[in-house]
Amino acid sequence: MHHLENHIRIPINNLKVSYTDEGKNGARVIIFIHGFPFNKSMWNMQVEALKQNYRVIAFDIRGQGNSHAGNDDFSIELFVKDLLSLMDALKIDKTMLCGLSMGGYIALNAVENYPGHFKALILSDTNCLADTPEAKEKRMNTIESIRKSGVEKYADESIKNLFAPESFKTKKEEIGEVREMIINTSEQSLVNTLIALSVRKETCSRLQEIKMPVLIMVGKEDKITPPSAAQLMHEKIKGSFLYIIEHAGHLSNMENPDEFNVQLEKFISSVH
Ligand code: MLT
Repeated sequence: MHHLENHIRIPINNLKVSYTDEGKNGARVIIFIHGFPFNKSMWNMQVEALKQNYRVIAFDIRGQGNSHAGNDDFSIELFVKDLLSLMDALKIDKTMLCGLSMGGYIALNAVENYPGHFKALILSDTNCLADTPEAKEKRMNTIESIRKSGVEKYADESIKNLFAPESFKTKKEEIGEVREMIINTSEQSLVNTLIALSVRKETCSRLQEIKMPVLIMVGKEDKITPPSAAQLMHEKIKGSFLYIIEHAGHLSNMENPDEFNVQLEKFISSVH
């Protein structure tokens, strides 16, 4: 499944951002933000499912996929600014926003700080907490091991935690795709993004301020951002919906796209 890839320069660092823009012009817009260390192609199944009725945009976060890295230090705040710049460049004033894991950290930060630009939020396999000291230390160890043993080894190690046990039998192709996404990310971007993740701020304390429709989804077997993390956000965001996806780990949109897409479509068709 190949989507036409576009590039556009955004004012911050004159950065070249790579994105796909499918579906009908004039239709309601939904923007997808990928997790770490993947790229926009992780949303292919969602783009296919939604493009009949929506304008569907998926972009590569700086330093990942085919977007350039720029010169600034990476941070979730910078990724939020990139998102807003991209929307501005594409003349999108208001959009629905869907983020998985790191994409969810970015989406939450964007919605809390710039609520006027967003109509609805879909949080998938993510959480609102900052890294614990142990998690920060683990990130530093990961950086060391990437530098010592390389990206392929890192990809193989990561994959063990990303998927539900059954996906290793039923989703071999998807797992291969994810491995490709990881090994196609530069070592420098992996390191810079790991640092950004480790210093990110929590977004839990402002969840009650979110007034737009919110759908929270999580793979039942997600070990990285488990259902308990989703439950915590669900309790704090008034009126939010929570849906646990069976037969899925951390990459619920790829491991069980049927269920994911049904819930996503049901939710966004109710947003006005
Ligand atoms: C992701 O999928 O984006 C990462 O697992 C997020 C993280 O490491 O915190």
